[in-house]
Amino acid sequence: RRPPRSTLFPYTTLFRSLYKKAIVTGGTGGIGEAVCQRFVQDGYKVVAAYNNKEKAEAWQIAQKEAGFDIDIVHCPVTDFDACGVAIKWVEDNVGPIDILVNNAGITKDGMFKKMPIERWDAVIDTNLNSVFNMTRQVFEGMVERGFGRIINVSSVNGQLGQMGQVNYSAAKAGMHGFTKALARETARKGVTVNTISPGYVATPMVMAIAEDVRKKIEGGIPTGRLCKPEEIAHGISFLASELAAYTTGSDLSMNGGLFM
Ligand code: CAA
Repeated sequence: RRPPRSTLFPYTTLFRSLYKKAIVTGGTGGIGEAVCQRFVQDGYKVVAAYNNKEKAEAWQIAQKEAGFDIDIVHCPVTDFDACGVAIKWVEDNVGPIDILVNNAGITKDGMFKKMPIERWDAVIDTNLNSVFNMTRQVFEGMVERGFGRIINVSSVNGQLGQMGQVNYSAAKAGMHGFTKALARETARKGVTVNTISPGYVATPMVMAIAEDVRKKIEGGIPTGRLCKPEEIAHGISFLASELAAYTTGSDLSMNGGLFM
């Protein structure tokens, strides 16, 4: 006799997840690594897109030793054609992509009056243009197959605005507009598009802030601590899941109460 639906439910969801393929840009970095590991635990086949070959190869070995089997692909996210090559490699060698996490990002902080245009361009290219470069490559396939999850890793500083970050705050705010516009185009096609907006996460990017400035920022976070990368990965895992099908065009703010 067929078991009641409540018993079957988690298993059928997990079974379907086993076939999903995910790509995470900046996959070898602070938040990216936690996302890749969480996706492996969720039963996905995971590809970490990287920019630095030497670092990525060593990272992949370390992940394997820790029990995480993760593919890697070279993917300079600022170059549209190179993104196309990387996506083609994944599709040919791993399979069609169901989940894209646009996570690659950099900071080039500096007060506006001292900011050269190179710092503006670099951050807009890496953090915002990359979202177009990657999403454009996978979007049509997702629509054809009737399933897709596009998750853009924005930042509390895209909502709050941050001193010394006009470039970064503009790029991260731009991701919200991209997300909401594309979500409308795909709402009836099984493809969801969302942002997640982390606050200050204990990663090398945040630890690079001068200690006195970082302490000031930490002092203003209602939870009184930095976020753990796995807490962000938990949110991304939700947005990637089958049951998040009704969540689109939305933002998941995980910032310890820094911006409400
Ligand atoms: N919060 C509170 N005060 C800040 C501040 C901040 N975010 N940023 C700067 N200040 C203060 C400084 O403490 C300093 O105060 P005093 O004059 O009282 O000493 C004043 O503003 C001027 O700052 P600096 O002396 O540091 O100026 P600078 O030109 O040497 O450096 C800077 C400018 C590089 C932007 C530096 O201030 C800085 O690194 N600020 C932090 C910027 C930041 O928050 N970056 C986030 C990076 S992590 C990230 O982006 C991940 C994410 O998504 C959250």
